[in-house]
Amino acid sequence: RRQKDGQLIALHEKAAELYHHILLRTQVGQHALKYLQDRGISEEQMTEFQIGFAPAERTLLKQVFQQENVDTQVISRSGLVTEREDGEQLDRFYSRIMFPIRNAQGKVVAFSGRLFLEDNYESARMPKYLNSPETEIFNKRQVLYNFDQARAVGRKENELVLFEGFMDVISASGAGIKNGVASMGTSLTNEQLTMFQRTVKKVLICYDGDNAGREASYRALQSFTDHSSLDVSILMLPENLDPDDYIQTYGGERFKEQVKNHRESPFTFKMLYFKQDKNLENEHERLAYLDQMIKELASVPSVIEREVYTHQLSEMFDISEEAIQAEVDKVLTTER
Ligand code: UTP
Ligand code: MN
Ligand code: MN
Ligand code: MN
Ligand code: MN
Repeated sequence: RRQKDGQLIALHEKAAELYHHILLRTQVGQHALKYLQDRGISEEQMTEFQIGFAPAERTLLKQVFQQENVDTQVISRSGLVTEREDGEQLDRFYSRIMFPIRNAQGKVVAFSGRLFLEDNYESARMPKYLNSPETEIFNKRQVLYNFDQARAVGRKENELVLFEGFMDVISASGAGIKNGVASMGTSLTNEQLTMFQRTVKKVLICYDGDNAGREASYRALQSFTDHSSLDVSILMLPENLDPDDYIQTYGGERFKEQVKNHRESPFTFKMLYFKQDKNLENEHERLAYLDQMIKELASVPSVIEREVYTHQLSEMFDISEEAIQAEVDKVLTTER
């Protein structure tokens, strides 16, 4: 089993080196390299994350592996090729910017490739990111992008930052935030929760500043509070920007300042989140919202925090803190 895994990992490590070399050192990689540079990714970041390019011809890996007499069965099990109807193997990834996915031990076990075509006519039919299929060495539920590198820094700061996309992880790293990880385009799994819980006490959710990102933040927050004892905060980015966009627009320093000083507590996040789809001018919706927030307030364990939020709600609704406290007490008594 170990040895078999080792074989598949060796193919991935080899592929990652080839893709990386093509991006940085060959003519074929020039356009993709320029694209990444225009996105503000430095060569240092490209090296740190071993970013690469898979050229349009689908024979690169196939040829290299054949030259090295790798068994076709093994190549097939690696997921790095797909089989044509006539049995011919072709590289799975082509015309894509390649991001190696490493397991917790730092070994390349998969790839994600971002579509990059010289002429874009086909792009509508293809996914922006294509991930490796599940293999003997890759289960996407068990992987957090950059966990192998983020873990040590995370331990020191006792916090990991959870991003939506790996471009955000890479961009944040360039800004000096080295404890960022991302799931593989799925919602947070229990396996990933465990990885967080074993490493740190705190987590910052930093998803995209759009509707999908806010929905996903809410779900991630619920998972963390339901299934872990982690101390969660949430950064809400403005204007449909994702962390990478934010850094491109306002710079890394300002992003770091956001991370440091503008994170919301779970309660404040929910206060903003539940408000989104409500018209608070309408008395009925206003009372329903207040009711919802009082239930949330009752579930805040710290008495001190509860007092702070009681104050916030009191100001927001122009209702006395005593009245809010009385309602919270009612919820707490009926729960007992
Ligand atoms: P995003 O679309 O937010 O990625 O998807 P991004 O990082 O902002 O990409 P850029 O800036 O356009 O390059 C977030 C994550 O969702 C998964 C990927 O894991 C991605 O990092 N995803 C997205 C896919 O798996 N497939 C897709 O087609 C799109
Ligand atoms: Mn998104
Ligand atoms: Mn995004
Ligand atoms: Mn983006
Ligand atoms: Mn007060």
